[in-house]
Amino acid sequence: MPTTASASRMRELKEREDARYHAARPKSTALRQRASAVMPNGVPMAWMRGSYHHEPPWVAGAAGAHFTDVDGFSYADFNIADMSMFCGYAPAPVVRATHEAMLRGNQFMLPVEDAIVVAEELGRRFGLPQWQFTSSASQANMEAIRIARVATGREKVLVFDGKYHGHLDQTLVALDDTGQVIPEERGLSSLGAAQSVVVPFNDSEALRAALQRGDIALVMTEPALTNNHVLILPDPGFHVALRALTREAGALLCIDETHTQVVGPGGLTRAWGLQPDLVTAGKSIAAGVPLGAWGMCAELADLMTQRKGPDGERDGLIATGGTLFGNPLGLAAARAAMLEVLTPQAYAHTQALGTELAAGMRAAVQRAGLPWYIHELGPRAGYVFAPQPPRNAAEARAVQDDTLARLIRVWLANRGVWEAIVGAGPTVPVPAVREDVALYLEAFDGLLQALVR
Ligand SMILES: Cc1ncc(COP(=O)(O)O)c(C=O)c1O
Repeated sequence: MPTTASASRMRELKEREDARYHAARPKSTALRQRASAVMPNGVPMAWMRGSYHHEPPWVAGAAGAHFTDVDGFSYADFNIADMSMFCGYAPAPVVRATHEAMLRGNQFMLPVEDAIVVAEELGRRFGLPQWQFTSSASQANMEAIRIARVATGREKVLVFDGKYHGHLDQTLVALDDTGQVIPEERGLSSLGAAQSVVVPFNDSEALRAALQRGDIALVMTEPALTNNHVLILPDPGFHVALRALTREAGALLCIDETHTQVVGPGGLTRAWGLQPDLVTAGKSIAAGVPLGAWGMCAELADLMTQRKGPDGERDGLIATGGTLFGNPLGLAAARAAMLEVLTPQAYAHTQALGTELAAGMRAAVQRAGLPWYIHELGPRAGYVFAPQPPRNAAEARAVQDDTLARLIRVWLANRGVWEAIVGAGPTVPVPAVREDVALYLEAFDGLLQALVR
């Protein structure tokens, strides 16, 4: 049985689907041509063009679980802006709360009560007592690194191969062929890479060896890796070993819940009973309004307390914070999102649909006779082009097929389903209904049948 379909069939289908996609979207193409005069790549962030193999559709509007492009096509959104729109588009409580926040004043550089409510709710969910805010998850991770340096007097950060924690010098790193840590993209400082250590996920021995050198301030990881096309789950016992080894070595542990928080209140930290020193989050906590958050244990919070020098001057500052971080608009959105949208019922609903989606994908794969593994985690499902799930990023890379992944995305887009960015498979957003899942499954099944025909 082939692991994937034949390369020539894939190419043939991809060319046909790409042509169909582009021919039907002249308005998007025209907008990008106009945009090229004022923006590199013709998009507001240059990578936005590269992330999609086909032209990105320009968006006209969105509501609930769907968005519409300027050429009039509507998409059931299973990528949900790389997890940031898990609450869906324009959820009424968040629209109301942000509207009111704008009317009250959206930025003061002074505290508002919503900050307390949001911190209390994050504490209840993730089990850490003290919280600070930023404008994004990347910035929350940057702050976590800073405080870990202060707390430990060390500088290095350990991350796992296959991680993504934002475009920070110290975490956007990779291993070269000789095992040397190098900047993963251009423009990053080699000093960042020099202070980073990368080991394979699920490899407790490599972790132990790296930590034993005694120079790691912080280990940062997602509880399950979500940025490798496929989901990489921890082996049984890996998180127990991770916690024990970091404690033993005097290194802090930060769990990045930016993507995995969608599995339930408190993300996988709560679901799996993890006990990190720090938790970071962003994206969907404020329904996609820019807000990042980082939670910490009481000992770390104590380090943040502002001390006064002998003349009452500020002393011992830790380099954290930014003018627009934790602003009232984001906090109002987070309060409404967590208290009124991300309810226990909403998580139960998305998990039930996630299970339905994964089951339907398994049935489609079986019907086509393809030996693909279908994974499932809460509202999220996904496909591995191999019979077994990978245990680390090297295994994930070995079974990845970019042409096939791109074909899946453009095929789905041509049938009103959006999943077109690197991720760990489709995720069901809060406002999605069974008909959306059925639409996904019909398109997915159709592609697999076309592939093996
Ligand atoms: C696990 C994880 N952490 C942090 C980030 C950075 O999020 P942002 O780009 O919103 O700062 C991402 C983005 O994809 C992520 O996947």
